Amino acid sequence: MVELIIKKRNGLELSKEELKSIIDGFVSGDIPDYQVSAFLMAVFFEGMNSDETANLTDIMMRSGELIDLSEIKGVKVDKHSTGGVGDKTTLVLAPLVAAAGVPVAKMSGRGLGHTGGTLDKMESIKGLSVDMTREEFIDNIKKHNIAVCGQNANLVPADKKLYALRDVTGTVDNISLIASSIMSKKLACGADAIVIDIKVGQGAFMKTVKDAEELAGMIIGIGSKMNRKVIAVITSMSEPLGFAIGNALEVKESIDTLKGNGPQDLTELCLELGSNMLVLGKIAKTKSEAVEILKKLISSGAAFNKFKELVKAQGGDVSVIDNPELLPDTQFSETYKSKNEGYISELNALDIGLASVKLGAGRETKASIIDYGAGIVLKKKIGDYVNKDEVLATLYSNDQLNFQKANEFMDLAYKITKEKPLLKPLILKTIS
Ligand code: URA
Repeated sequence: MVELIIKKRNGLELSKEELKSIIDGFVSGDIPDYQVSAFLMAVFFEGMNSDETANLTDIMMRSGELIDLSEIKGVKVDKHSTGGVGDKTTLVLAPLVAAAGVPVAKMSGRGLGHTGGTLDKMESIKGLSVDMTREEFIDNIKKHNIAVCGQNANLVPADKKLYALRDVTGTVDNISLIASSIMSKKLACGADAIVIDIKVGQGAFMKTVKDAEELAGMIIGIGSKMNRKVIAVITSMSEPLGFAIGNALEVKESIDTLKGNGPQDLTELCLELGSNMLVLGKIAKTKSEAVEILKKLISSGAAFNKFKELVKAQGGDVSVIDNPELLPDTQFSETYKSKNEGYISELNALDIGLASVKLGAGRETKASIIDYGAGIVLKKKIGDYVNKDEVLATLYSNDQLNFQKANEFMDLAYKITKEKPLLKPLILKTIS
């Protein structure tokens, strides 16, 4: 191991056998954390080329169980987001593309840090379970064309251990390590094709479009080496997506979007990602044809009905979906008002995400218990003109003591200027 650390530290390429000995030794416990930490830091500074990254992905993917979806007919298209604030896309996109005929076998994660997780959002629906056996998962997809579940403990154990170590050794934001982490999980889940939403901005891992393009290139390269089609969509995360941040609040906004009454940015993103999924899934020949199909599924109610079918199949109370006021709410709410007059030129997604965590919507540690009703509903977004003391957002929590801590982050999130800011597009680039 010492020789391999030194080899990478000196900027040399590691062979597949060498990478395999590191990963296998780490997973089995034979190689200690301190040596793997040194190796990760060497990778962080010296990087890995596309062959090394593809080899690492393959080794990580095979470190645990592989899900075989071959008994499900059709092209299985998965979707992944590198994570953001207010990103409830899966809740809209999964039923939408399932209604169009793409089988959706979705393994999702939980929120950690300032970003939310699909599983926590789904669990804010009374009775709904995301725990299922592999047989139940496949059975649900066969019956309903859709299932959303938590990640199996045996799936890519190498990523679980590596990610936990990267998190505490300052080695998360390396493009090869991120690409292999994401792709090993997507490939182990049995996807034939993948659409990746790479977020850029203050609330995201990638801070610049250049870095996001590099990550996209790396991910697409891994896909092509593994015979999988991948489309990467680079999207802005300089402000939260939609208006709602927090689990039940985001479910409500997703229901509105599935009914055609959602926020413009969330709807636009779902149509962009969904149309790529339909083309990859061979449901549509072109993206514009796919967009028309998706819009019809929204206006006819088919996408909303598919969401209800998903909730019912996973034990959730469907009356909550018909009456979103039955979703968990909070005992207390407070408005957050503008301190100045002018245009909102910054609405920092990271700070808004941290404010929502302080209100109880997220986890500060893995063991934290989530308050499903807690969160923030924004009233204004970047480019809006506001008066002094005008309400910018409403904050929700079941603990009155949380508001002060959340307000400190709200104060950091906003920048109000005299000049109207240049509005940046949400969809920055699609690369395939
Ligand atoms: N998401 C992942 O799954 N892995 C990373 O390394 C970063 C984002």
